[in-house]
Amino acid sequence: MAVILDHLDVALGARAYPIVLVDGLPGEIAAQLVRERIPGATRALLVTDSNVGPLYAEGVRDALAAAGLAVAVVELPAGEATKDLQTIATVLDAALAHGLLRGDVLVALGGGVVGDITGFAAAVLHRGVDFVQIPTSLLAQVDSAVGGKTGVNHARGKNLIGAFWQPRAVVSSATVLRTLDPREVRCGLAEALKHALIADAALLDTVLAEAAALRALDPDATARLVRACCGIKAAVVAADERDHGQRALLNFGHTFGHAFELLLGYGALTHGEAVGLGMVLAARLSERLGVAPAGLEERVRAALDALGLASDPDADGLPDLAALVDAARGDKKADASGVRFVVLEDVGVAALRRLSWDEVAQRLASPAPERP
Ligand SMILES: NC(=O)c1ccc[n+]([C@@H]2O[C@H](COP(=O)([O-])OP(=O)(O)OC[C@H]3O[C@@H](n4cnc5c(N)ncnc54)[C@H](O)[C@@H]3O)[C@@H](O)[C@H]2O)c1
Ligand SMILES: [Zn+2]
Repeated sequence: MAVILDHLDVALGARAYPIVLVDGLPGEIAAQLVRERIPGATRALLVTDSNVGPLYAEGVRDALAAAGLAVAVVELPAGEATKDLQTIATVLDAALAHGLLRGDVLVALGGGVVGDITGFAAAVLHRGVDFVQIPTSLLAQVDSAVGGKTGVNHARGKNLIGAFWQPRAVVSSATVLRTLDPREVRCGLAEALKHALIADAALLDTVLAEAAALRALDPDATARLVRACCGIKAAVVAADERDHGQRALLNFGHTFGHAFELLLGYGALTHGEAVGLGMVLAARLSERLGVAPAGLEERVRAALDALGLASDPDADGLPDLAALVDAARGDKKADASGVRFVVLEDVGVAALRRLSWDEVAQRLASPAPERP
C-alpha cells in the first residue's frame, strides 16, 4: 500500500476537499477516499487515456472494486485532440450504460486532458455527480487537478466550453510520474515555476537548489514541489473560485505563451515551453513598465535554464514581438482593445495591470531603461 507523504485542504466551505500526496500506486488510497467522502456511491466510472490506462488503470479499478464499487473503465485516445464535446458524449454514454446515478462517482486517472474531460462530464451528468482526481502528469499535479476548472476545447479555441466543478478529493502519486516523458516533466516544472514566481520567492530558491533532483523526479523533492504549488493554487482558488479577480494571476506567462503556441502551431513547443517564454516576456514587460526591479527577467531565464526549458524568446525561428502582440490581441478569449496583464512586482509578488495592446508593444520594443 502506498504511504501518505503529506496532505492539504482546499478551503471551499462545504465543497472543501483534500489533496493527498502519496508515494506508491494511488489506487487504494483513492478508493479509501471515495468510501469516506462519497459513502453512498455504489458505481464508479474510471476515465483514463490510452497511455495511462495500460499502466495504471487495472490497479485503480481493482482497488475501487475491492472497496465495494461496481467499476466500468473508459479509455480515451491520449492527447489534446480528445478534449472535445464528442468525447464528453462518449464518457456520458459509458456512465449511463453502466447505470451511474446521482450519488455515484467518476474517477479521472490521467493528465490534465483526462482531468478536464472527466470533471466536465461529472458536472453535467445528472446535473452534477461527484468526481475524484488522480492526476498522473506533473502539470496536472501542480496545477490542473486543483481548482475546479473543467471543460473542453472548441474548433474556435481552447477551453471555450466548461464548468466550475470541484473534485471531492485529489490523490497525487510521485510514483506514477516515473513513466512520464521527460518533455512532459519539464512542462510541469514550467507551471510550478509560474507558481513560485507569482506567489512564493522562497519556492524559487528551492526550485533552483533542487533543479537536478526535480528533473530526475526525486520523490521527496517532487512531493514538496507539488505540495507547495497546490498550496499556492488552493489559496488563490479559495479566494476567487469563479475567476472574477485574483485567480487571473495564475495566467502569468500565458498571454504570450498562448501566442507562441498559436503562431508556431500547437505541439511545436510544449505548453510549458511556450509559457516559459511567455514568462520571460512578462518579466521583461514588468521591468520596462518600472514595476519590477532590474534583473527580474534574468532571474526568470536562469530558472528556466536550470529546469532545462527554453529561455530565449528572441531566439531564431521564434515569432517576433509584433507578431506575438498581434496574435495575443486576436486571441478568441482576448479583448482587442487591451489586456489585464499579469506583471511581477518582484519574485513572488504578482499584480494585474490594465494595458492597451499598443502600450504592451511599445514597452517591449523600447530599450531597457538606464540603470544608475
Ligand atoms: N483545469 C485547469 O485548471 C487546467 C490548468 C492547466 C492546464 N489545463 C489543461 O490540461 C491539459 C494539459 O495537461 P497535461 O500536460 O497533463 O496533458 P495530457 O493529459 O495530454 O498528458 C500529457 C501526456 O502524458 C501522458 N501521461 C500522463 N500521465 C502519464 C504517466 N504517468 N505516464 C505516462 N504517460 C503519461 C498522457 O497520456 C499525454 O500523452 C490541457 O488541456 C490544459 O488546457 C487545465
Ligand atoms: Zn498553463
